[in-house]
Amino acid sequence: TKKMILDLDIGVDDALALAYAIADPQIDLIGIVASYGNNLLEQTAKNSLQLLELLGQDVPVFKGLSHSSTTDHFNVMQVSKEIHGSNGIGDISLSEPRHQVQEKDGVDFIIEAAHQYSKDLIIVPTGPLTNLAAALHRDPQISQLIGNITLMGGALTVEGNVSDVAEANINQDAEAANEVFTSPLPITMVGLDVTLRTLLTKKETQQWRNLGTRAGIAYADLTDFYIDAYYRLGIDKRGCAIHDPLAVGVAIDPSFVTTLALPMKVITNKHNYARTIGDKTRLNEPHPNVKVAINVNQERFVSVFMNHLTNLLANH
Ligand code: BDR
Ligand code: CA
Repeated sequence: TKKMILDLDIGVDDALALAYAIADPQIDLIGIVASYGNNLLEQTAKNSLQLLELLGQDVPVFKGLSHSSTTDHFNVMQVSKEIHGSNGIGDISLSEPRHQVQEKDGVDFIIEAAHQYSKDLIIVPTGPLTNLAAALHRDPQISQLIGNITLMGGALTVEGNVSDVAEANINQDAEAANEVFTSPLPITMVGLDVTLRTLLTKKETQQWRNLGTRAGIAYADLTDFYIDAYYRLGIDKRGCAIHDPLAVGVAIDPSFVTTLALPMKVITNKHNYARTIGDKTRLNEPHPNVKVAINVNQERFVSVFMNHLTNLLANH
């Protein structure tokens, strides 16, 4: 098993990623770091606690940073509310969390885990890269320790989803993302190139609903909200993209995707802000630190994802 930290901005697809990481026996989930993004930090941390309790898990939740490295506050975008609901989890209601977030700061937790587990540690950020960039600032040594960063973010071969060139997670904090990509960290970028091809439909969520369990119905409800939003906003009429779960899947089984090794950077100028692109000045580096996923076996991925989720949701 691999030690995994999820850095989540829950978010419907983050909620699905969380369930997947819990359900896959190859993953030892050692902690969740909450990020701002699909909602405010306070809300995403609360969502993590509530979903963990729904799924019967005792995993520590830490708070990361509440806004990007270049601004001093963060507002939830209206479109985030339309896609993920005003509470970030499809406006389903869950009981108030019994547990609290840890006192330790999420960035320090990342640093300590890097020293404790080094190459056995995988970090999966499915929101902005602010926390990881802050950890690199506080302790640059961790870039030599951590086994792998498998992140959901960016787009190399397709357009962005918030602008022609920008994907949402990178767009929240392109400066932080650029620091992460250009560090020595070994990174797998699971971006829109592949995540837009992994769709979930109401046929799948009906299977969870049919389980009749609390978790099965809650997960069907929150995912149906997301599928309806995809339909209403014309993003995809067939179903919803399960962006963040694919990052968890690739972290544990890289064979779900084919990758291109490329030294990457993130554009931080106003023009083309947050575009993820190959870095021309480093093209001759013999061992680029980033692997960009460019193709995916979506059928196999969705079927593995469904097996794990259905087993977990059946029991809670
Ligand atoms: C990413 O943006 C967020 O809204 C989703 O949760 C996902 O991580 C997709 O661009
Ligand atoms: Ca996310």
